[in-house]
Amino acid sequence: MAKGTGQGSGRRGEHDLKVRVKTSKGRKIGSTLWLQRQLNDPYVAKARAEGFRSRAAYKLIELNERYKLLHKGQRIVDLGAAPGGWSQVAAPIVGSTAEHPLIVGIDYLEMDPIDGVILLKKDFNDPDAPQLLIDALGGHKADLVLSDMAAPTTGHRATDHIRIMALVELAADFAIQVLAPGGAFVAKVFQGGTEHELLHTLKRHFTTTIHAKPPASRAGSAEAYLVARGFKA
Ligand SMILES: C[S@@+](CC[C@H](N)C(=O)[O-])C[C@H]1O[C@@H](n2cnc3c(N)ncnc32)[C@H](O)[C@@H]1O
Repeated sequence: MAKGTGQGSGRRGEHDLKVRVKTSKGRKIGSTLWLQRQLNDPYVAKARAEGFRSRAAYKLIELNERYKLLHKGQRIVDLGAAPGGWSQVAAPIVGSTAEHPLIVGIDYLEMDPIDGVILLKKDFNDPDAPQLLIDALGGHKADLVLSDMAAPTTGHRATDHIRIMALVELAADFAIQVLAPGGAFVAKVFQGGTEHELLHTLKRHFTTTIHAKPPASRAGSAEAYLVARGFKA
């Protein structure tokens, strides 16, 4: 199993592992590498220590530090919310409570409840999903639409790209439908891969549209975030 090597030059990364995981019978090499990466990931340890359900929580924390996305009283939609890190980060900042929930999250995976967050267990691709989210907002417009949705990867780059872009386009259409003037849209995309047409649409609807790679997003991954602010109604 996991074994400490005692190495510690201060450099972090795959070449400088503190914990090595031996392959064992029945565990595939991919699973072994995943486990090794988890055990050596400072964000995983931090999330555990600070009570966040996912290391993804730090991506929103870092995006918020940089772009000042979260504010008291905002209404937020969290697309692809499970296991709940982003909603956990946002709820106390916007002041969302069980009595007065301001955040609605959706995921097809089961999620444990989060105080102040309405959670829908549903595929966002379902035709009735957008309306259910709008209903859950209680007739109010949203100030921020977040999408960390990612379809399970196939390993085939072109296919993965098409799948994630289909989700982003759906999320962008939804954001344009539900955002209040001045609102913002944040979505996971593949680096350098945002379709020209989608960028063009976003630039028409938002004052600023940029790509960001927060430090918590693994350097080796093609993941990036699209941050569109200043929704023009
Ligand atoms: C990277 S995780 C999100 C992590 C989350 N932001 C957090 O902080 O815990 C991506 C999520 O998107 C969800 N997802 C992918 N496609 C979806 C879809 N079509 N409808 C709803 N959720 C979807 C997955 O089930 C997964 O839980």
